[in-house]
Amino acid sequence: MGKYAETYGRWRDDPIGFWAEAASAIEWETPWRTAFNPDMGVYGRWFPGARCNTCFNALDRHVAEGRGDQTAIIYDSPVTGVKRRISYLELLDDVATFAAVLADRGVEKGDRVILYMPMVPEALVAMLATARLGAVHSVVFGGFAAHELASRIDDAEPKLIVTASCGIEPSRIVAYLPLAAAAIDQARHKPDGIIVVQREQHVADLKPGRDHDYAALMAAARKADHAHECVPIDATDPLYILYTSGTTGQPKGIVRDTGGHMVALEWSMTNVYGVAPGEVFWAASDIGWVVGHSYIVYAPLIHGCTTVLYEGKPVGTPDAGAFWRVVEEHGVSALFTAPTALRAIKKEDPDGALIENYDLSGLRALFLAGERADPETVRWAEDKFGIPVIDHWWQTETGWSIGANPMGLEALPVKRGSPTVAMPGYDIRILDDAGHPVAPGKLGNIVIKLPLPPGCLPTLWRNDDRFQTSYLVEFPGYYQTSDAGYIDADGYLFIMGRTDDIINVAGHRLSTGGMEEVVASHPQVAECAVIGVADSLKGQLPLAFLVLKAGAEADPDAIEGEIIALVRDQIGPVAALKTVLVVPRLPKTRSGKILRGTMSKIADGESFRPPATIDDPAILDEIAEILRSRVGASPR
Ligand code: COA
Ligand code: AMP
Repeated sequence: MGKYAETYGRWRDDPIGFWAEAASAIEWETPWRTAFNPDMGVYGRWFPGARCNTCFNALDRHVAEGRGDQTAIIYDSPVTGVKRRISYLELLDDVATFAAVLADRGVEKGDRVILYMPMVPEALVAMLATARLGAVHSVVFGGFAAHELASRIDDAEPKLIVTASCGIEPSRIVAYLPLAAAAIDQARHKPDGIIVVQREQHVADLKPGRDHDYAALMAAARKADHAHECVPIDATDPLYILYTSGTTGQPKGIVRDTGGHMVALEWSMTNVYGVAPGEVFWAASDIGWVVGHSYIVYAPLIHGCTTVLYEGKPVGTPDAGAFWRVVEEHGVSALFTAPTALRAIKKEDPDGALIENYDLSGLRALFLAGERADPETVRWAEDKFGIPVIDHWWQTETGWSIGANPMGLEALPVKRGSPTVAMPGYDIRILDDAGHPVAPGKLGNIVIKLPLPPGCLPTLWRNDDRFQTSYLVEFPGYYQTSDAGYIDADGYLFIMGRTDDIINVAGHRLSTGGMEEVVASHPQVAECAVIGVADSLKGQLPLAFLVLKAGAEADPDAIEGEIIALVRDQIGPVAALKTVLVVPRLPKTRSGKILRGTMSKIADGESFRPPATIDDPAILDEIAEILRSRVGASPR
């Protein structure tokens, strides 16, 4: 029996014993009463009774064990030309100092702090400092606009916001402070203040009384020899809230607990990624996403690795060889990125000419997640790098991989298009819409038998009901992933797409329902539908159809432009809505349900059969014609 089968079997035979054993890799202030209590929380809680601190396990413990001089963070920022190495000891000093700064401003255990930050070391310092105090951070991706930030402020009710004067996109400087200030103006909840990391590329005007300069606060705390120790908290207490797209405009506040999260991440570093403490691990993502939380910040540091914090893009900073330069220069052992980044690189450097310029012999594996890894991209990468290219599947909700090829345990044969097999902790089933298991190879709803393993969300922030209705009600006894797919006869998973109205744009998870709410708010719009259409670079792109109100006088072209601007303003540039089409009417069933799925198929040029309940099939021809003339889609 292979190591994977043996390990998965060991978990299945004794799930609680399995995770209790894995938990010995973490340092606990007080041990747990029982590794899992099925009666606590919505579906049970991991490690109740234990007390611990994530920052302690990420920093203090390593310094005490002699890793102080090892580099913790390599900050590599092609957009500013800065490269910096920060040792574990230096990072601990910064974090303990900033924790004191936060504590001085009233942040205590359980308080929330929102971080709206670019990819700078201070963002990691702020995350870890918040964790050090037993407080709860909520990082908001910089590509979201003020309105989205405001909705998170109202839900999380933070005591403070930490931001930077700017983020740097290749095409422009993004001033963050005005966005944070606008968000506070829009929000009902008013945080006590904003701490601002000033960057020389754009220095923000600070508003006295509201805004505080990060560097000045740090200098004052250092002068006063002010540092804060770790505050032990319950393993079941939250470490962070990360908002992710739901089916409406109101994002879901995914809660991550403290103890189970550490156990799962530590296990994954050894067994999924196959990296050892001291090695360099690089997740080329953003701290605003779950990949950034888990694999830029917490997992590498908890495991005693060196993590790369890269402030740049796969292409254009300066070219499609940027990733390979970083891998060579910093001796990266394992790289984790999104397929869309590889597609962007492949588009600019299809023959891999730039790859030849770098010595990538230290790179053992390339991990992909965030969206489906299309076989063509996987094949290209395998061919160009000659190393395993490992697709793995997970969600913001789970925090670590549900399905993967466990490179540390055993490299299983790769089937392109499959993220391989279920990880220990996950009993994955494929059910039809009525909840019956389907045969191997048959498409269905992918669900996970409860309880979820350590690291997965225990609930939504202050909203057990929404957690239940969103994930647990439709298939009783199971967590509904909202992904559709199948398991083949060898037990390999295939993840084919979402069953809800979430789309995946350049590895970013977006809600078409949320976009529809914004589009519908335009005064001239009678009704609308936003769908995802296939895109060879970004995987999917949003496309909005709208019907104008009767008697609307405005020029349709002008309204299309206004809608694009409105979505950018309300959701943010990350929404990437660039195509808006005014149509005379929308296709619907006789009961009035808009046929979004059928429109997606038309836009993607796929064959389709209109549902028998369609109200007026002629509308589909009108839609097809508009798509053909405006965006060149060619329905079959
Ligand atoms: N702050 C402010 N704006 C941001 C931003 C940030 N942190 N990140 C992205 N944006 C903006 C971009 O500037 C762009 O704005 P524009 O419409 O004015 O050009 C818009 O949001 C869309 O950005 P993006 O999706 O990154 O598209 P792109 O065309 O700039 O780049 C890729 C395309 C493929 C290179 C890029 O999407 C990429 O690197 N993707 C990898 C995704 C990833 O790592 N996902 C994490 C999950 S693992
Ligand atoms: P997010 O919560 O942003 O990580 O997005 C999670 C969603 O992205 C999943 O529900 C899937 O739809 C998709 N996804 C992530 N990783 C993969 C993968 N390896 N293969 C297919 N889809 C993926």
